[in-house]
Amino acid sequence: MPETREILLLCASPHKGGTTEKLARLLQKGLASHASVSRILLAGKSLAGCLHCGACKKDGLCVLQDRDECEAIFAAMRKASLVIWLSPVYFYGLPAQAKALVDRSQRFYEAAMACHAKDAPVRPRALAFLVAGRTRGKHLFTGSHLALRYFFAALGLDFAGSLALRGLEEPADMGPEEERQIAHAAALIAGFYQGAIAGPVQSIACACPLFEDADPGSPGHTRANTSSSTVSGTVSGTVSCTVSGTSSSSTSIHTQISTSAAAHRG
Ligand SMILES: Cc1cc2nc3c(=O)[nH]c(=O)nc-3n(C[C@H](O)[C@H](O)[C@H](O)COP(=O)(O)O)c2cc1C
Repeated sequence: MPETREILLLCASPHKGGTTEKLARLLQKGLASHASVSRILLAGKSLAGCLHCGACKKDGLCVLQDRDECEAIFAAMRKASLVIWLSPVYFYGLPAQAKALVDRSQRFYEAAMACHAKDAPVRPRALAFLVAGRTRGKHLFTGSHLALRYFFAALGLDFAGSLALRGLEEPADMGPEEERQIAHAAALIAGFYQGAIAGPVQSIACACPLFEDADPGSPGHTRANTSSSTVSGTVSGTVSCTVSGTSSSSTSIHTQISTSAAAHRG
């Protein structure tokens, strides 16, 4: 079990004073009366990506462990009772700095596979909030959500799911209604933290309709605004597939691309 009764807000945006940080501030305000809350900002931290050198396969340790701040963040996450991860969507995924941290958890995965884990088993709970500038797209949050699901699994955290807010290009897009629903979400999370609520993601998505459940496999996911826009282009091409040195098939693909003037990312 985790050693402390503390909620850790992990703000995984590289942008100081940005949308994610504003969300973290609002959640912290709402949670502070229920629990001790600490905050880690990834912005400005030194975080190097995995080198895939294979050293952790041998002893479960990372060759970069003393060279940056990843291990200190992992320790804080594994010590907390509840980790709330907050990140923006950058190109349909996590920001590069956050992804570097995620990739470095490979040492936990390798250690578990080789049964030479040196880290004491823990089971803190984890929950994620994702924000994105775009207002549309069924899979806007899917990449981030899946990366986090396997990241938390590698670290041994019990992941309750991700909640997403779209249409937030900058902090000012978080108006009074967003602020009210974030405060309400904080109250529900406090109940989850105290063990009173079993499924926080579904409860929050129902009670705060601006939030959506980012899990592509959950029923709540279909609530995402997926309205398609005008079809303005066609791409055609030929894919050749070679099996065992023999060109075995050739398929033509004709894909319609849905796009809009404002939407450059899909
Ligand atoms: C490099 C970069 C890539 C982005 N990619 C996307 C994207 O794929 N989809 C989207 O909806 N918004 C995208 N955005 C917009 C951000 O999600 C949005 O501005 C968010 O509020 C940024 O939060 P932050 O201030 O904490 O960084 C991108 C922004 C940046 C800087």
